[in-house]
Amino acid sequence: MSSLIVGAPSQASLTAAIAAQCHAEHCVVEQRRFPDGETYIRVPADPADRDVVYVAELARPDQHLIGTLLAIATLRDMGARSVTLVAPYLPYMRQDRRFRDGEAISARYVANLLDQHVDQLITVDPHLHRLGGLDELFTIPAHRVAAAPAIATWIANTVQNPVVVGPDAESAQWANAVAEALRAPSVVLTKERSGDHEVAVTGGHADALKEHTPVLVDDIISSGMTLVRAAERLRRLGAAELHCVGVHAVFAAGAAERLNETFHHVVSCDTIAHDSNAISVHALVAARCAELLTT
Ligand code: R5P
Repeated sequence: MSSLIVGAPSQASLTAAIAAQCHAEHCVVEQRRFPDGETYIRVPADPADRDVVYVAELARPDQHLIGTLLAIATLRDMGARSVTLVAPYLPYMRQDRRFRDGEAISARYVANLLDQHVDQLITVDPHLHRLGGLDELFTIPAHRVAAAPAIATWIANTVQNPVVVGPDAESAQWANAVAEALRAPSVVLTKERSGDHEVAVTGGHADALKEHTPVLVDDIISSGMTLVRAAERLRRLGAAELHCVGVHAVFAAGAAERLNETFHHVVSCDTIAHDSNAISVHALVAARCAELLTT
């Protein structure tokens, strides 16, 4: 039997892109809330004896995790031979250790939850900071798709003489990969975070910006404070025009306003649907799915 690509309702476009690349049938689950707030799920296709890809929405995870687990359980219960989870944004990854006594290590617990229910996972640029790789969280094969080639193409088409800037040490991995693809220089600043919105950014030097336009690149845009403080630092070093690119447009309340006041362009990849999505990684995710389904 051929593969079946099933998506959460908000993932219709990525689901169709994966199906086209895999030459497979596709559908989206029927999902709604019962009057008491519980989630209703129905799979409108037959997954029996088929390798199924489930394309999940895991941004705002507290709203979407139960629906994802119910959809996967339904696919299994209806006889799917295997389930590959595509989660373009993998949530809870930043709480990857106990910073204060008694805290939940959420990255580990959420990973455990997914790990038990699917055969493999595909995600885009997961936030791996203190962890060396997804294999430290998952026992199933967990595959990373890098957004760097798509981000580099957007920068090459939009910004003259760019210098790629990472706002903090964690972002060095994305900033350096994008700079390498662009054959452009890169700089990494230093960040200290003392609260959800309290961020200080230092480092860099004026010479790195000479005759170059800075493009800040980070994985997650949440409150936006990391990029706002990094922009202030770059202005003090002499930057005039500033652009920023985030892989995952989490955009907590107030972030879009904050960033639009600060930057010439604020753009993101389409791992989370948002007005700032100007860079598509759907083709990269679909290609990786097709590769994995044929091996
Ligand atoms: C942190 O380590 C991440 O790479 C991002 O820099 C961070 O999550 C951005 O958060 P915010 O937009 O709230 O500053």
